[in-house]
Amino acid sequence: MDINSVKKRIHQLRKEIDYHNKLYYEESRNIISDFDYDKKIQELIKLEELHPEFKSASSPSVKVGGKITKDFNTFNHNVPMLSLSNTYSNQDLFDFDKRVKKNLNVEEVEYLCELKYDGVALSIYYENGLFKRALTRGDGEKGDDISNNVITIKTLPLKLSESVDLEVRGEAFISKANFMMLNDEKRLNNEELFSNPRNTASGSLKMQDSSIVAERRINCYLYSLVSDKENITNQEESLNYLKNLGLNVPKTFKKCKNITDVKEYIDYWENKREDLDVETDGIVIKVNKLKYQKVLGNTAKSPRWAIAFKYKSESKKTKVLDIRFQVGRTGAITPVALLDPVELGGSIVKRASLHNSNEIERLDVRINDSVHIEKGGEIIPKVTKVETNERVLDTGKFKFINSCPACDTELKTIEDQAVHYCPNYKKCPPQVSGRIEHFISKNAMNIEFLGPETVKGLINEGLIRDVSDLYNLKYDDIIDLKFNIDEEDKIRSLKNKSCENILRSIEKSKENEFSNVLFGLGIRYVGKTTAKKLAKSLKSIDAIISADYDKFIEVDEIGDKIAQSLIKYFNDSENLLIIQKLKSSGLIFSDEDTNQIKSTNLKNKIFVISGKFENYSREELQKVIEENSGKVSKSLSSKTSFLLAGENMGPKKKIKAKDLKISVINEKEFFDLL
Ligand code: IVH
Repeated sequence: MDINSVKKRIHQLRKEIDYHNKLYYEESRNIISDFDYDKKIQELIKLEELHPEFKSASSPSVKVGGKITKDFNTFNHNVPMLSLSNTYSNQDLFDFDKRVKKNLNVEEVEYLCELKYDGVALSIYYENGLFKRALTRGDGEKGDDISNNVITIKTLPLKLSESVDLEVRGEAFISKANFMMLNDEKRLNNEELFSNPRNTASGSLKMQDSSIVAERRINCYLYSLVSDKENITNQEESLNYLKNLGLNVPKTFKKCKNITDVKEYIDYWENKREDLDVETDGIVIKVNKLKYQKVLGNTAKSPRWAIAFKYKSESKKTKVLDIRFQVGRTGAITPVALLDPVELGGSIVKRASLHNSNEIERLDVRINDSVHIEKGGEIIPKVTKVETNERVLDTGKFKFINSCPACDTELKTIEDQAVHYCPNYKKCPPQVSGRIEHFISKNAMNIEFLGPETVKGLINEGLIRDVSDLYNLKYDDIIDLKFNIDEEDKIRSLKNKSCENILRSIEKSKENEFSNVLFGLGIRYVGKTTAKKLAKSLKSIDAIISADYDKFIEVDEIGDKIAQSLIKYFNDSENLLIIQKLKSSGLIFSDEDTNQIKSTNLKNKIFVISGKFENYSREELQKVIEENSGKVSKSLSSKTSFLLAGENMGPKKKIKAKDLKISVINEKEFFDLL
């Protein structure tokens, strides 16, 4: 490369890396794989080394990416939060070992290996054993104070087992199982899905409303003791010390006596890490002795005593045979790429999700394209890259459909989102069958012997139009019912035993409690938790049908969006008719399990509970209020009587309470009042 080309390439790489850093650190998004990102960084470092005349202090190879987000207080880190140098190759790993040994002038060096958790780095301060503050990495020098959000992490103790001053670092993350659940809820609510656990954790921790953060059930693993402590001489002892203080240190770390043992650890976890509930993208190898770590020191960007060995996420190349559109039970349209079948991570992959119109636009994916697919946090793989230069024909950009593939109704979009949906709620076939499939599902009425295929068969035969018809099915109606069993259009028919099982499980479903029935109705945005809260708070379907907007938002966790959706649902006479028919069939439509009322001292008083309390959890306080005839609401309104405020309550709530002239009381004042 001539000198001008080198200069140009360095400039281009810096621009690209800065752009990806900005997306990653400020918007929690990544649009290239870690591997491609690291390749760019490595190319830049190499070019800068070969041409020191182009070195610059502001190059992304020198500084840690990221900026400070605006809405939080910022604090300087006591010790800069660096990043790790990465490698994907054994050669680099052995070179690292050689370098370390040479610099220390020793024959062999002991390492402490840990998994590299794929989440968000946190620095957490304790004073006298009590949680003081949690900061993000920010620009490495100073970070955002996201304490209000971090205290929602249940596994992070607010009090340590000893009264010590401490700074500790770790990784906040959303577990795989939890991520699936969050996206299931998104799917039910017709909302755009979260892209992956890391971005969801990072986006959540930067939210201003910590009650939403709490719902994301974030977890945190600790891996570094920053403060110096007497008697602690190596990383292994630090981890054990943190564990003994009550901090969440995973057991997966291992002391390795040399680099060969390190390699064994790497090989062991390569496949095994799939079984863990936390996303990991590699291994962190740390020189065990703290004394050695000090000798080796840091570069501007990363420590010389540690390296991350990253696993390449398995990717396969295949061809897009077609792009189809699926209609969900709430009408949401999901584009799906049908692929030339290919083996990936132990299974044959035939389809990949394209998420929504934005994703199709971003990838510029077209039918017949060669694409790379990878398995992410979701079960269905995603398309990560399109080989645009392998296109033979210019077919033009793929166009998102305008009308429903099932019923031809013109599609609508949801404001601010890339989600398209079919508004033909009542007649669109996949929506009709989807609602019934939702009703019979495990979390709702659990009608276990009825499956999606049989439901479609029943609809095709005109035996059911909505969920209420299930309870009128007779043996003679369904014996020999024809239905398709799989995608290959094989026709089956119902035999005696299956008919008996189906009818028995339908009958048994009548015993389900009210919240299951309510959830089963499939009201948009009403997930299982909301259904439970509604049933517990309003007690019966009649109370729910006659409730108005204000009544709904008094219910814990119900805000504007859900309240509007409930009103819309219960204003529809067809829905009321279905409920009437279900009632006549004997389903349970009231909550028997009412709280024991102890007094009417708090009658007509509406409380909003916020923050952390010394003696009681928020749930316990809610119970006390309800037992004394008071009500608890999620959001402040002119109807709120008291804001019951604990520690670390967000400032926004305080300001709003002041504006609305609502009395703010603490835990003690509450019990005095009672
Ligand atoms: S030690 C100088 N240990 O990886 C940084 N980091 O690329 C020392 N990470 O910012 C960090 N698991 O967010 C360390 N077991 C582990 C880790 C870990 C994940 C993250 C951390 C760090 C990033 C570095």
